[in-house]
Amino acid sequence: MKRLACRCTRWCHQVYVGLPALRPFSCVPSASAVRTSHSFTPGSILPGTVEVSKQRFEELLESEMVHFARALRPHPMTLQQILHLTDPTALRTFLLEELPIRYARRVQLVESLPNWKSYPSMRMIRSLYADAFRRLRALTQDDKDSFRSTLQDIKRRNANMLFHVVKGARAVRTNKSFTDEQVNRFLDEFLTARIGTDILSSQYLSITRPDSPTSIINPECDPVAVVRAAANDAATLCRHHYGWSPPIDIVDVGQVRFPFISQYLNYIMFELLKNSLRAVVERYGSRQVAEAYPIRVVICGDDDTVVLRVSDCGGGIPLDDMDQVWSYMFTTARPACEEVAAANACSEPEDEDSDDDGVAPLAGFGCGLPLSRNYACYVGGWLELNSIPEFGTDAYLYLNRSGNGQEALRTDVDALPMRGSLLNGSYNGSSCDSSGILLATE
Ligand SMILES: Nc1ncnc2c1ncn2[C@@H]1O[C@H](COP(=O)(O)OP(=O)(O)OP(=O)(O)O)[C@@H](O)[C@H]1O
Ligand SMILES: [Mg+2]
Repeated sequence: MKRLACRCTRWCHQVYVGLPALRPFSCVPSASAVRTSHSFTPGSILPGTVEVSKQRFEELLESEMVHFARALRPHPMTLQQILHLTDPTALRTFLLEELPIRYARRVQLVESLPNWKSYPSMRMIRSLYADAFRRLRALTQDDKDSFRSTLQDIKRRNANMLFHVVKGARAVRTNKSFTDEQVNRFLDEFLTARIGTDILSSQYLSITRPDSPTSIINPECDPVAVVRAAANDAATLCRHHYGWSPPIDIVDVGQVRFPFISQYLNYIMFELLKNSLRAVVERYGSRQVAEAYPIRVVICGDDDTVVLRVSDCGGGIPLDDMDQVWSYMFTTARPACEEVAAANACSEPEDEDSDDDGVAPLAGFGCGLPLSRNYACYVGGWLELNSIPEFGTDAYLYLNRSGNGQEALRTDVDALPMRGSLLNGSYNGSSCDSSGILLATE
């Protein structure tokens, strides 16, 4: 039997008696960002401590996780709101409840897969998120240092999540438990949800960084500088794999500055440029010939929107493949060794503790475009691709300039449109439909 009176900072099987209590929100900057607090209160629990067995304790946590997943809702926020979350105490108070809600919902998502227990990757994912849930619920609001180290630890442990989830989803598909469409839908939802927890926990880690506290959202993000950095990285990778790299012209039309997460813009541009570089290299075969066909990035925007266009003359995408390029299953490259791809593609863009030093493939993982679109949509933007077969491809990235695009959280698993159905006119940037569902998710 264990005595439940623990406020200690490390995980153990003792629990403070107020464990199920929901903390009031005090830090969310605007009422509209949060749909009030939750109705659950621990009124029937008497003050003091009780003793339960380890098994009972685990059961209590499991029930709490179910409650968090089913009865509570995450709170979508805008980049501007996140940018203003600079008070560590208030943000910690908010995250101590918000992150467990989001992790619990991801556990539930895994459990919604048919026979999920028979897939090692799915078991691993479930266990990682359940563990994150437990660790956070064991903390109290005063555990400042342990909250920070717990967040770092969760990020480190979850660094290969993309690999696990893509691998797991592909296994589910191979077993014919799911169609491609269902697998894509699952991955979209899962990976979209992951972006939100990344942003929020990275924001806390950034503003509490001991040396130079800052926000992860750069209020004056310079897209040209970000594109230059992404172009350098993509060209270096291209040279590594092909021995040479086509030229990239960057055209700055508007000298735009806007609030954005630079690492996410970098990720998207890096993926688009890798695709263009690969297409041009494979079409022209030498730097001398490719010199006449530079990849061109144009950056401009009006008061509301920042637009980045990446154009290449790499031969385009067959029109019949245009839907498929948004699938996590689709690649025309030699499928990358999964381990290598994972080691490079899965690290969190803002993961300050990443110790990955492998060399990524230029293509072959199949996730570059769908994930980039996920990132764009998450912050109220959009990514589009147009192809002129036998000539080239244009990718258009639209981003919300004011930073008021709301986080695209799925609130109802069954009610959201499938990827393809956005093309039927239901997609509307970052707005909500009448049921409050954010359509920007996909
Ligand atoms: N600019 C482009 N020109 C020609 N084909 C392209 C272009 N961009 C994407 N494609 C096609 O779309 C496919 C999917 O692209 P995506 O970036 O999602 O995955 P990938 O490049 O195959 O792998 P990775 O996830 O490692 O980037 C590519 O394999 C390629 O066939
Ligand atoms: Mg790619």
